[in-house]
Amino acid sequence: MKIVAVANQKGGVGKTTTAVNLGCALAERGQRILIVDLDPQGNATSSLGMQELEGESLYEPLLGGASIIERIFPTRLERLFLVPADLDLAGAEVEIARMNDHLTRLKQTLSILRSDQTFDFILLDCPPSLGILMTNALAAADEILTPIQCEYFALEGLVKIVRVVEQVRDSGANEQVEIVGIVMTMFDGRTKLSAQVVAEVRAHFGERVYATVIPRTVRLSEAPSFGKSVLEYDPKGTAARAYRALAEEFLKRHDSLASVRG
Ligand SMILES: Nc1ncnc2c1ncn2[C@@H]1O[C@H](COP(=O)(O)OP(=O)(O)OP(=O)(O)O)[C@@H](O)[C@H]1O
Ligand SMILES: [Mg+2]
Repeated sequence: MKIVAVANQKGGVGKTTTAVNLGCALAERGQRILIVDLDPQGNATSSLGMQELEGESLYEPLLGGASIIERIFPTRLERLFLVPADLDLAGAEVEIARMNDHLTRLKQTLSILRSDQTFDFILLDCPPSLGILMTNALAAADEILTPIQCEYFALEGLVKIVRVVEQVRDSGANEQVEIVGIVMTMFDGRTKLSAQVVAEVRAHFGERVYATVIPRTVRLSEAPSFGKSVLEYDPKGTAARAYRALAEEFLKRHDSLASVRG
């Protein structure tokens, strides 16, 4: 089982879209997936049409008042499960900050899932800030998947998250965490800029950047309002194809990791 934080402190770069659609594509391929919505905005929750689950967020488990097991809900898709979020979760941020072990609350909350091996991958959909929830995600994760929007300031944002990851490592909360995957999102084939940004990010981060690039398409922005992934909403479209290709590449990478690690 691997815990993957889908993280970038920059807002609106495609974190939630990637967590939801990659999660669905992996489940489609037979993987047992848990998406943990760590954003009080609850976008991953509503993207899966599960916003009626108010009061069932990670708030209590994070504060030690319940087990995460009680907050895992099945979705319409087989093998895909969700821990929902709602605005309550914003309050957890304040309360956790007062605790001595404030960096590792999520790590402890998730530890039961490490031992029971119910899931193949847990995807943490992080909020867009450098707050407690995001740093908890980095501390709990085995690795980080960072979506980057194909736009001008992409590299500046990346430099920032690289620094935050270093801080988490230096704090001792998680010594091996690193950004192992970068996925370029909202690629617009009609503009030179998109291609330039991809080339620039590849020049800096090489192999870590996925070959699969997610195109900009209105289908991806429409799907959440129907509570559906793009794989359900427009199964044959370019976005569904892209997220399926990303899932395939993701699995290939993790197979080869597994064999390297023995
Ligand atoms: N490839 C894409 N093409 C077109 N629209 C997209 C694409 N990816 C995401 N979007 C849209 O862009 C907006 C931001 O995407 P998303 O919510 O996934 O980003 P985020 O990084 O999770 O944002 P936040 O930081 O607020 O959590 C959403 O309206 C989403 O539907
Ligand atoms: Mg989001």
